[in-house]
Amino acid sequence: MSFPFERPRRLRKSVSLRNLVRETRLHPHDFILPLFVTTGKGKKEPIPTLPGCFRYSPDNLTEVVREAESLHVPAIILFGIPDKKDSVGSESWKPDSVVSQAIKAVKDSIGDMTVIADVCLCEYTDHGHCGVYENGEVKNDATVELLAKQAVSFAQAGADIVAPSDMMDGRVEEIRFALDEEGLERTAILSYTAKYCSAFYGPFRDAADSAPQEGDRSGYQMDPANVREAVREVQLDIDESADMVMVKPALAYLDVISEVRQFADRPLLAYNVSGEYAMVKAAAANGWADEKRMTMEILTSIKRSGADAILTYHAIDASRWIIEELTNAG
Ligand code: PBG
Repeated sequence: MSFPFERPRRLRKSVSLRNLVRETRLHPHDFILPLFVTTGKGKKEPIPTLPGCFRYSPDNLTEVVREAESLHVPAIILFGIPDKKDSVGSESWKPDSVVSQAIKAVKDSIGDMTVIADVCLCEYTDHGHCGVYENGEVKNDATVELLAKQAVSFAQAGADIVAPSDMMDGRVEEIRFALDEEGLERTAILSYTAKYCSAFYGPFRDAADSAPQEGDRSGYQMDPANVREAVREVQLDIDESADMVMVKPALAYLDVISEVRQFADRPLLAYNVSGEYAMVKAAAANGWADEKRMTMEILTSIKRSGADAILTYHAIDASRWIIEELTNAG
């Protein structure tokens, strides 16, 4: 008998054989593209902390959405940057809010693109916290009421899915009640179920101008050290009738994704956040890493860990690479 008897390398000897036995495949349908919308007209402002990403005015958004559609990306998620902020974020639920304008613009011009609206107050409050802020604390129940108003407003504008990213307790249930009361029972809820208090959101906060003026978000977002707590959060979200659940960030939380996967009987998404994207972009810009290979490896790891779909700023590039590889390799 030859040595060694077991030779896993037998299945690694050619491209076609490796293609055959690959366990995890990426497809453009796996991706959701995050987009930032700002007030005004004719705007496409580069975001310094997120190279390759822009802040679009609603009238200019459809161009990039069409590009995503042509590459088979099925969904976008919208973040609004208003020109006026106040203590409760009241710009966010006005019928002509920047996000509602963007939703209508996309829905009016693009046949079938799933539009998700991020529901949170931090982009709209002058203090930068994700809710009603009093005496150094974010008030849970008062915040939930405002989130429900915002969710109803985005759903009325035509959002297919509303996605609360605030981490208040009970918000999924309250949003579901509010939507149903308004006859919006077909609008789905994607809950940011296990959202950690993370340094990886830094570039996003610059993009959305949403960093807290004082304090941090550790009183509502999860402690990065905890995984059992993520299971508790997913059980609560399921009880409250979330249609989809999410773990965020992704890369430093792959174990959380696979743990939550065991308990979630519904689609599980992962958010490949701004800091994860910016690290790759910075390394690539310095010639320290191969952007394409590094990006695809990261996205593959997120899917391999159990995510059904990935929110990622790489969505357009990654979809293009996947399609190119299939067409070139035949
Ligand atoms: C809050 C929100 C944040 C992100 C998505 N929704 C920022 C935060 O919680 O501070 C971060 C996304 C990213 O970093 O890419 N509305």
